[in-house]
Amino acid sequence: MPETESTRDSEVARPTASRRDPKWLRTRLAEWLPQAVGGPATVRHLEVPSANGMSSETLVLDADWDGDVHQLVVRVAPLPESDPVFPAYDLDRQFRIIEHLSATTDTALPQLYWSEPDPAALGAPFFVMGRVEGLVPPDVMPYTFGSWLTEADDAQRALLTGKTLETLAMIHAADVPDNVLDPPSPGETPLQAHVRRLRDFYRWTSAGRPGSPLIERGFRWVAEHLPDESTPVLTWGDARIGNIIYRDFVPVAVLDWEMAAYGPRELDVAWLIFLHRFFQDLTEMAGLPGLPTFLRRDDVVRTYERISGHELRDLDFYLTYAALIHAVVMFRIQCRAIHFGQAEQPAYTDDMIMHRATLESMLAGTYWEHIR
Ligand SMILES: Nc1ncnc2c1ncn2[C@@H]1O[C@H](COP(=O)(O)OP(=O)(O)OP(=O)(O)O)[C@@H](O)[C@H]1O
Ligand SMILES: [Mg+2]
Repeated sequence: MPETESTRDSEVARPTASRRDPKWLRTRLAEWLPQAVGGPATVRHLEVPSANGMSSETLVLDADWDGDVHQLVVRVAPLPESDPVFPAYDLDRQFRIIEHLSATTDTALPQLYWSEPDPAALGAPFFVMGRVEGLVPPDVMPYTFGSWLTEADDAQRALLTGKTLETLAMIHAADVPDNVLDPPSPGETPLQAHVRRLRDFYRWTSAGRPGSPLIERGFRWVAEHLPDESTPVLTWGDARIGNIIYRDFVPVAVLDWEMAAYGPRELDVAWLIFLHRFFQDLTEMAGLPGLPTFLRRDDVVRTYERISGHELRDLDFYLTYAALIHAVVMFRIQCRAIHFGQAEQPAYTDDMIMHRATLESMLAGTYWEHIR
């Protein structure tokens, strides 16, 4: 596969300086585990994989206790010196969301073991879950460039789409857990609160450096186009196929609850459609076909509506908002790469946004005209 701008940028976004030493982690986990287990336990194997994972650290761990080998995954908040992507990480909140959904729905989720909010053991809070076997659509190289998904047939991809949207509808049908998600401030709607938090994040990441005129224009557009909102639900947040483990094209574990929020369901459906468009556009720019008929906007909307029984509204707004959220995250990731000396500050800050052309045409209302 040829190296492209996008793959280089993805590498840049994972500075090695943010990695913890596996030997140190192994020792610390071996010291921590017996009190969690309530008896003797040993760490058999520990690995720090380099695949997906730009914000938190994911550790793969085999441990013995009670005469069994347990295959685990540890999700650790980033160390402050790694210049984390987000200003705060609430791993315990992610744990509680998974716990709530496991207890109240049939959503495919990893088995939960423990949440450790005390940073003493590993230098940052973490939680431990069961390891789930299966395949994740890769981000690096994006699955559209060639992967088990491009090698699959249309029927398999249709199965994956339907089962993924069933999963999404199931999450949206769950009761909203008490005291887990940030509530809107007085006088704010859930969507307004969502936009406010994104704006705060952008202010934090752009403080003391040149901002992005495109992002700032995007925020003005969003403020001017806020729709009437559907009934708020628990939204997954990072609702994309790259955060699902599949077996035979069926979800077996929904991962990554960092961006979960209280808000309209359209946020998740739009994010799912947009993230595929993001990868598809990069693939077409590289001169490759990608998967132009996979996760098509109209198909996703129709299928989700049929499964959930809820009509989706104002998708043009939510898709543009998804592109803006992604632009802010991308801007932040590039700031981080510049901080680590792995990228240079471009002459035009908008060039830090890989999909700037997409966001520009969405703001102009022309993007979807060219999509089959
Ligand atoms: N319970 C699990 N079982 C098996 N593999 C897992 C599990 N949790 C995470 N992984 C692996 O680790 C990868 C990264 O997980 P996750 O998406 O939760 O992390 P992340 O740091 O938020 O990633 P990103 O920021 O890129 O979305 C997954 O793609 C998967 O390969
Ligand atoms: Mg992820």
